[in-house]
Amino acid sequence: MTATSSAGPANTDQIAYWNSVAGERWALLQARIDAVFAPLTGAALAFAAPKSEERVVDIGCGAGATVLGLAQAVGGSGHVLGVDVSKPMLTVAERRVAAETLPQATLLLADASTHTFAPRTFDLVFSRFGVMFFADPVAAFANIRTGLVDGGRLAFACWQPLKANPWFEVPVAALRPLLPPAPPADPLEPGPFAFADADRVRGILDAAGFEDIRIEPHHTRMNLGSPTAALDFLTQVGPASRALGDAEPENRPALIDAVRSALASHDGPDGIVLGGAIWLVSARTAAVAGGQPRAPGSTD
Ligand SMILES: C[S@@+](CC[C@H](N)C(=O)[O-])C[C@H]1O[C@@H](n2cnc3c(N)ncnc32)[C@H](O)[C@@H]1O
Repeated sequence: MTATSSAGPANTDQIAYWNSVAGERWALLQARIDAVFAPLTGAALAFAAPKSEERVVDIGCGAGATVLGLAQAVGGSGHVLGVDVSKPMLTVAERRVAAETLPQATLLLADASTHTFAPRTFDLVFSRFGVMFFADPVAAFANIRTGLVDGGRLAFACWQPLKANPWFEVPVAALRPLLPPAPPADPLEPGPFAFADADRVRGILDAAGFEDIRIEPHHTRMNLGSPTAALDFLTQVGPASRALGDAEPENRPALIDAVRSALASHDGPDGIVLGGAIWLVSARTAAVAGGQPRAPGSTD
């Protein structure tokens, strides 16, 4: 059964967002999202390299795809704790964990940025696109770090900029001329592109007390299926869906038509296949024998 922990006030907007329209959509579309993300999931899990008997936290685990993958990797003597703020997504995750009979996987409804993790317990903190939504990312990662053993690993996947992700950019570019001019998005605002700048990510992890920070680009082809399936997906998930959600209802049919036309020009023998680009980020806590890891933010 999903345990519950109190949420910090700083992430109120994101918590509300992932418990309403976004969380419900992601829960409903879980199978489709996992199919589209499959190549990225494989890359992220291989990058994190979970080992038998390890104790792992999956931050922002959502509907549980990576909790299942991690639980299989650590086996019955390991443990995976999936943490998320979204009740609708955790409900799906809970069902999947139960269906696969993986007692080594447990789920927790909690704000990972403020939850009190059992100190120095986990070997690996993992995330597939679940760490870009913190109001104060340095404080969040410093908090998450407390749960890692000395020398413990952090490994996560986050999106590169919109422009490096045609699967996001094509529908957004189709909508742009039809929407009222908007001020440029704040690149620091919590959201899917908050970690698009690799230097920013490096700075956040360094300030949060992590060491040995590595950031690798990874590119893939996102197979979105038939034009109809791609339209259905991209109007429900990602930045185009957010723009459509903000649009006046009477304008939506024309906006959806514009996305449909833009996608049509990318239809090929395998359906709509567009590029996707992520950062694979890893870091470690200090491996200190008989001492304390350095304080978050210290420069020595
Ligand atoms: C883009 S979704 C990714 C979900 C899942 N990892 C996946 O790849 O399908 C982002 C997830 O992060 C979760 N999330 C956002 N802020 C969080 C926080 N402060 N603590 C825990 N989870 C959070 C959301 O509820 C959502 O499930």
